[in-house]
Amino acid sequence: MNATDPALQDEAPLGLYTRGDGRAREWWRVSSSERAHMYRIEHGQGESGEVDVDTEIDLDNLEAKLLKWRREGFVSEAQRADEARASLAGSTFSAALRRAVEAAREANSAQVRPHASTPTVRIGSVDLPRGEPNALVPRVNAAYLFTERGDDIVQDIVENRRVMLIGHTGSGKTSFIEQVAARADYGVLRANMNGQTTIGDFVGFWTVKGGETIWVDGVLPVAMREGYWLIIDELDFAEPSILAVLTAVLEPNGRLLLKERGNEIVEPHPSFRLFATANAAGAMSAYRHLYQGANLLNEAFLDRWRVYLFDYLSLEEETEVLLRTLPVLTRPLAHTLAAIAADCRAAFAREDLASAFSTRRLIDWAELMLRTGDVERAAGPAIYAKVSADDAALIRSVIRHHVIFDA
Ligand SMILES: Nc1ncnc2c1ncn2[C@@H]1O[C@H](COP(=O)(O)OP(=O)(O)OP(=O)(O)O)[C@@H](O)[C@H]1O
Ligand SMILES: [Mg+2]
Repeated sequence: MNATDPALQDEAPLGLYTRGDGRAREWWRVSSSERAHMYRIEHGQGESGEVDVDTEIDLDNLEAKLLKWRREGFVSEAQRADEARASLAGSTFSAALRRAVEAAREANSAQVRPHASTPTVRIGSVDLPRGEPNALVPRVNAAYLFTERGDDIVQDIVENRRVMLIGHTGSGKTSFIEQVAARADYGVLRANMNGQTTIGDFVGFWTVKGGETIWVDGVLPVAMREGYWLIIDELDFAEPSILAVLTAVLEPNGRLLLKERGNEIVEPHPSFRLFATANAAGAMSAYRHLYQGANLLNEAFLDRWRVYLFDYLSLEEETEVLLRTLPVLTRPLAHTLAAIAADCRAAFAREDLASAFSTRRLIDWAELMLRTGDVERAAGPAIYAKVSADDAALIRSVIRHHVIFDA
């Protein structure tokens, strides 16, 4: 075998490696040698084309050189050409995409934009048609902060898409949907799949009342007929029979077939919307050990939803939420508490902590702190008693890092 062996040539990155421009340009050229297993390397500088190093080395040495050159900022001509091609393809793609987006907007706006006479309410930067006030409209939480992450979801609601929010406990999934509904006047029904909801509760059942057998609609047909928004909480705990019923309804304008009622077809009211929340589905599956009993939702099922990952709020956003929820807090106080939560979440992400630190927990702790005036005492029922002794010790040390306790 010698250096002209094609297999070896494939391995050895022959060619020109350059850095800098004009007079500052410097280059190394690698070519195959007449001698077996050897490579010729040449070096030059500036624009003269003069070669000041010309030597032969073996493959091991060449690899070491290539590494060193890369560290020094040399790039192979082949790689430069690849990058130029990719960037050209990228810019052509982006330009084509921009044109397609404009065309889609124009085509959609006629369809999706609410009729000029329809009253709308603006949430974030999206106009949502208003519903009808009714007893099931949730109460507005004036402290609720709509962040940018909500815009796409509100647009999905306008377009009647099925939306699934996934994320850790207390990251704001359920409250987001409720607060959109509260502001736009839609009634909300909730069904929790973690152990309590049977297929009968969900779809409906026959029962005997006053000697008569009557049908009682479950939560799904009620929401579909009346035009409520249905939030299916903890969908990753649902029994297979419920998932099977849901699949049919997941298509936009999907109808429900009530087999138990002689195949009655339930048509969705135009205001009906379907939402799901889950802690450990899809991209959150890595955390299934924290949510014991959660089922893996298969991809075909997930593909019928728009799935949004709800992370905890940022430090600034959470400070804002604390201030809005508990206006007696000062900004520095709120900021310190939010920073403690952020540090605990970072420890959780590093797997130093086994429990996540929810916004719900943070608000609860702050409320209790305002009642007791004592950071540690408030942390007892709001935090420490809910986690393992190890976690409690670590959280206590995070708190101590931010707050100097009175002696
Ligand atoms: N953007 C926000 N603005 C104001 N408060 C928020 C916000 N996000 C979350 N919260 C607070 O956090 C609490 C918990 O949120 P929520 O119940 O929506 O969480 P979740 O993600 O549905 O949790 P779980 O998975 O446990 O059901 C809310 O009641 C609210 O007080
Ligand atoms: Mg929830």
